[in-house]
Amino acid sequence: MNRSKFDLTKFLAKKQTIIKDDQVFEPNFIPEYLVHRENELTLLANHFKSIISKNSIITGKQVIIQGPVGLGKTVVVRQFGLTLENYCCAKSEDNIANLSFFHMNCRRQRSWYLILTSILTQLVPAFPIRGFSVDELLTYLVKILKERNQGLLICLDEIDYLLSETKGHDVLYSLTRHHEGVNHCEQTQISLILVTRNPHFQKFLDPALLSSLSQRVIIFEPYNATKLFDILSLRAQQGLYEEAYSNDILKTIADFAYKNGDARYAIELLWRSAKVAEQEESQYIDFEHIRKAQVSIFPIKQSIITDLTSQLKKVLFALALLLKHEKNRAFVTTNELQNKYNEICKKSQEKPRKQTQFWNYLQKLAGLGLIELQVQNRHQNGKSAGRTTLISISDLPVSDLLLLLDQNC
Ligand SMILES: Nc1ncnc2c1ncn2[C@@H]1O[C@H](COP(=O)(O)OP(=O)(O)OP(=O)(O)O)[C@@H](O)[C@H]1O
Ligand SMILES: [Mg+2]
Repeated sequence: MNRSKFDLTKFLAKKQTIIKDDQVFEPNFIPEYLVHRENELTLLANHFKSIISKNSIITGKQVIIQGPVGLGKTVVVRQFGLTLENYCCAKSEDNIANLSFFHMNCRRQRSWYLILTSILTQLVPAFPIRGFSVDELLTYLVKILKERNQGLLICLDEIDYLLSETKGHDVLYSLTRHHEGVNHCEQTQISLILVTRNPHFQKFLDPALLSSLSQRVIIFEPYNATKLFDILSLRAQQGLYEEAYSNDILKTIADFAYKNGDARYAIELLWRSAKVAEQEESQYIDFEHIRKAQVSIFPIKQSIITDLTSQLKKVLFALALLLKHEKNRAFVTTNELQNKYNEICKKSQEKPRKQTQFWNYLQKLAGLGLIELQVQNRHQNGKSAGRTTLISISDLPVSDLLLLLDQNC
């Protein structure tokens, strides 16, 4: 009988050399510092500052947060809400309101019933979860808050899922208006942060609801490559061993991720690259690990490569050969690539194509998403010396590419 070659005990005992702390890369992780979101945090703080005061007669406030995926909407709101709650708790004797923060993900808790019972069971652990209608739950919640003289800040994250429910708009309307008819001195207040990716969110609200919302909107803009680099840097400092990565590695990941400005994608790519390096028992992350990690996110399209013309295959092969030996750069220059391409053509006794045609090939490969072109200004002795194009392969492991092209070139 063949014995398994895999030694589980040895595997478990092996120390990780790249990743210091896996938790840092978990989706729920809240970093200590949220760089490049200071403006958004300031806007939130200004908007909600008044709700923490016990003295003022204030009703609930609302804010809408809008922006595409992975821009830090959730992490910013969670950090803000938790900090506010902790502050109120620590200063409870200094005329500061008794305020609790709830972050609700409406994709996971897709109905008002689930949301309200979840809040109520946290406020009143013995609360019987069955047998109440949504209206009754809401009335009960307001009553409890009044009795306790307590305020709530509720974040309804991915709110769109909730508004597609039949009663979605009505309940939200009641929440924004619940203070009407209540004695203000009793200070029952519910404030809301509505988070959506939909840039046309307001168009989907019925007019009554729209006018009852304060309509304060905070838009989250995509991060550029420099900002993504800073975010990655902080994450790497916390989650990776210092010797396991370089700034060039982080910069390359930021460059790949910046097209969407998506920090989630950037962090995931760093984590997957670290995992690949770990698996290969490498001491540090290199550019090939990043390319392999990208393929695990977007699988390689082999058919695109096998269908290339022979000349395009030669250009791609030349690039893969050069990058294979490039340990310190994720790119090569046009000159370097053209020289290698000429060499390959000569070996197969073909006449290399001229500059213009070669440039067309590069454009074609870039158009197919197989390579990346980046134009950079050159400087010599402090003076501008024209422009150069840097060429890289973003999401194909060079080793796989070489295997595939070796048989075809
Ligand atoms: N400014 C930042 N500093 C540190 N980490 C950040 C920052 N912005 C985003 N992140 C991290 O990027 C990832 C995505 O952020 P988050 O989940 O908040 O995005 P989102 O805008 O809510 O996306 P979605 O619309 O898909 O829900 C998280 O791991 C988060 O910690
Ligand atoms: Mg989110």
